[in-house]
Amino acid sequence: MHRQARPAVDFAPALPSIAAMARRAPSYVCQNCGAVYGRWQGKCDACGEWNTIAEESAAAERPMPGHSARKGRLFALEPLAGQTHDAPRLASGLGELDRVTGGGFVRGSVLLVGGDPGIGKSTLLIQAAASLARLGHRAVYISGEEAVAQIRLRAERLGLGDAPVELAAETLIEDIIATLSEGSISRLVVVDSIQTMWTGTVESAPGTVTQVRGAAQALIRFAKRSGAAVILVGHVTKDGQIAGPRVVEHMVDAVLSFEGEGSHQFRILRAVKNRFGPTDEIGVFEMTGAGLREVTNPSELFLSERELGTPGTAVFAGIEGTRPLLVEIQALVAPTTLGTPRRAVVGWDQSRLSMLLAVLEAHCGVRLGTHDVYLNVAGGLRIQEPAADLAAAAALISSFANAPLPADAVYFGEISLSGGVRPVIQSAARLKEAGKLGFMAAFVPEAVCAEAGESPIKVSGVSSLADLAADILARSENPRKSAVKVPAIRG
Ligand code: TYD
Ligand code: MG
Repeated sequence: MHRQARPAVDFAPALPSIAAMARRAPSYVCQNCGAVYGRWQGKCDACGEWNTIAEESAAAERPMPGHSARKGRLFALEPLAGQTHDAPRLASGLGELDRVTGGGFVRGSVLLVGGDPGIGKSTLLIQAAASLARLGHRAVYISGEEAVAQIRLRAERLGLGDAPVELAAETLIEDIIATLSEGSISRLVVVDSIQTMWTGTVESAPGTVTQVRGAAQALIRFAKRSGAAVILVGHVTKDGQIAGPRVVEHMVDAVLSFEGEGSHQFRILRAVKNRFGPTDEIGVFEMTGAGLREVTNPSELFLSERELGTPGTAVFAGIEGTRPLLVEIQALVAPTTLGTPRRAVVGWDQSRLSMLLAVLEAHCGVRLGTHDVYLNVAGGLRIQEPAADLAAAAALISSFANAPLPADAVYFGEISLSGGVRPVIQSAARLKEAGKLGFMAAFVPEAVCAEAGESPIKVSGVSSLADLAADILARSENPRKSAVKVPAIRG
């Protein structure tokens, strides 16, 4: 009896105070990814960022000072059908940049441009600002990284010294916004880079997550209020993410990524997110001694250094956005000395390569278990289309069999796990581009062949990867061929 009664007496009074404590206990929230912790720690386990965890107490749920708790204000709901206006655009005059943004910068919007250091972000944006300024718009370039003299020097080298761009080397957001709010409205404001900016309203060092977010928020408010197109430059981390809070990517209207291989002169501008346009277009530039030059016919560029007649290369007729793009795929298959053979791929998907090797092994008798395999997309381009499967497979088999593919042929088609070749979108545009560049033959999915009709080039339908493999292996000069069991060609 006595024993049973005790707990009830001892614990009952304690319960309410534990509940009250739980209500009052602050939580610690990562400002980068939103993960919640019970206590403060230096590094967020969820996203790996340092110094991003801040205390957010229940106080946040109380009304802000000056705002009393009140019933919500009523507002009118609008029908979906109604007057629409096209987003007012400001074409930069750089065709490749306008193609990626979807026809120019949208007024009142904020665009984030990310890319590796030294890739040419500042060069691209000073060129865009100069081009707009020459068209008579007020363009302002604010740099937190370089001095005005440095920017001027670069502009002079680019032959833009006379463009009426207004420059400043400033980092305090409040000063920048106050200055920009004076005088006539600027049409384009470039802020290079958002990581160097800081706002007095937040108590942390420039470059920290909270600062970057605060500065971005202030600039977004400024863009909406003033109708200026604001471009933020963002640094990227080693793995290619835009450094700092991911939330900035969610806050802005568009995110462009400027990419390129260090050893190549080509630079590719790609839309990662775009609230006002497509995300599948790419812009191609070439970095020259006089800045970035637009490349309006990228296929010619990507095929310019082909070594004709070497085994292991195939030309892929691809599509980037709405534009056909021909690019060479190179493969090297060599006997390995390692226990686990190497599989290395540049410009294409590693898991796609593994899948292709499995299909080659299972359905085509091409056994690569004792071979190293390297695959490379020439020119530093990164291909994301599954349509590249057939070209990649052709290059791999060609290298394995040491049999060059016809130099005037292009390949496209998606390969299924069963070894079939599936049709892909926009075949006509691919064939047209190949014809325009002087190619005479195309190896395509059979379904495409049936509907190709009149075509300037010879179109051959490939019904299965085994057919293609047998065809290439039959031309092999290599003794390895005899070791390969060529499956009967399936019709
Ligand atoms: P930059 O625009 O400063 O890169 P980011 O702002 O992305 O860090 O470009 C720097 C690189 O571009 C530098 O390595 C030199 C090269 N470059 C040229 O080759 N030609 C040029 O006319 C300019 C201005 C730069
Ligand atoms: Mg720069």
